[in-house]
Amino acid sequence: MAKVLVTGGAGFVGRHCVQRLLERGDEVHCVDPVAPLTGGLLPERWPFLDPRQFKQFRFHQEDCRAWFRRVHDTDFDYAFHLAAMVGGRMMIEHNPLAVADDLSIDAEYWQWAVKAQPRKTLCFSSSAAYPIKLQRREHYELLKEDVITFDFDIGMPDMSYGWAKLTCEYLARLAHQKHGLKSVVYRPFSGYGEDQDDSYPFPSICKRVLAHRGEKNLTVWGSGQQLRDFIHIEDCVDEILATMDRIDDAGALNLSTGLYTSFIDFARLAADLCGYRPDVRGLSDKPEGVFARGGDTTKQRALGVRYKTDFRTGVQRALQYYERGGQKK
Ligand SMILES: NC(=O)c1ccc[n+]([C@@H]2O[C@H](COP(=O)([O-])OP(=O)(O)OC[C@H]3O[C@@H](n4cnc5c(N)ncnc54)[C@H](O)[C@@H]3O)[C@@H](O)[C@H]2O)c1
Repeated sequence: MAKVLVTGGAGFVGRHCVQRLLERGDEVHCVDPVAPLTGGLLPERWPFLDPRQFKQFRFHQEDCRAWFRRVHDTDFDYAFHLAAMVGGRMMIEHNPLAVADDLSIDAEYWQWAVKAQPRKTLCFSSSAAYPIKLQRREHYELLKEDVITFDFDIGMPDMSYGWAKLTCEYLARLAHQKHGLKSVVYRPFSGYGEDQDDSYPFPSICKRVLAHRGEKNLTVWGSGQQLRDFIHIEDCVDEILATMDRIDDAGALNLSTGLYTSFIDFARLAADLCGYRPDVRGLSDKPEGVFARGGDTTKQRALGVRYKTDFRTGVQRALQYYERGGQKK
């Protein structure tokens, strides 16, 4: 049984990680204030599992920065550092200084880690850390982990969110070089799942398609032509658990499929699964973010991991879940 810290463990990614860790018998310390404007949920509201059923589950409802100042246990085997002010695109574009809180959360995390010496840190960065110049309509490419080197010439990342993630990665690297701390950096692309907060495109497009079933027209945010790499959250967690002991030097790994889907094609797919064929258009007054963001999968394949859920299946599962009113089968 491992002793595991999960900061931000009440959020979307956190809940799925905590569930798997509890199911394999680990003692899980979830530190999360359930911050407003995030995807965080109190344990009694988790859709897929009540973690309080597990006697090895400890919930500390507080800001991890306060917890870091108070708790100095030196026997954590793993620290999943997920705590962040994320929100969807609206938050990233319209509340960039709230997102900048991540800089302080990460600074205090690494200062705590130097003292507490967790045996391994899993540092959750993002595809938003990649240079936006490689994600433009005129030129885009599947983003490879080694595009971010920190040796010279760092490209402009995506807003304050991308800056914070890039800085967290840099601190992970310094923590390894100067203090010998072992860590792996994950860069999830568009992780999705049924229980994701409605501020994200995945649930919002699925729910809109259901609400307008049979209508002639449907809208999506931005031009609708923007491309994203959607990966199911369960595939992310599988990849994380399979690789977390294999990278120690703060090296990065994408969590991606390498496949691009436009918002328009996503809405058409969902509508098709609901049995209608609307004309899908973009809403240009809503933010679209970068044009094309997809993650190269070479390094994942070299480590023997690959996504399993194709997007059509993932969308179908979510539509059925929402139609049941958010109940498990
Ligand atoms: N979901 C994705 O596809 C995706 C993609 C890229 C990166 N990530 C990264 O994964 C991590 C989790 O993202 P998510 O999608 O689960 O977001 P989320 O909003 O669902 O969860 C974030 C959690 O962090 C908590 N939090 C915020 N401030 C905190 C603090 N000071 N102390 C402790 N907890 C705090 C929130 O209450 C929330 O529960 C983030 O670091 C995010 O940047 C996620």
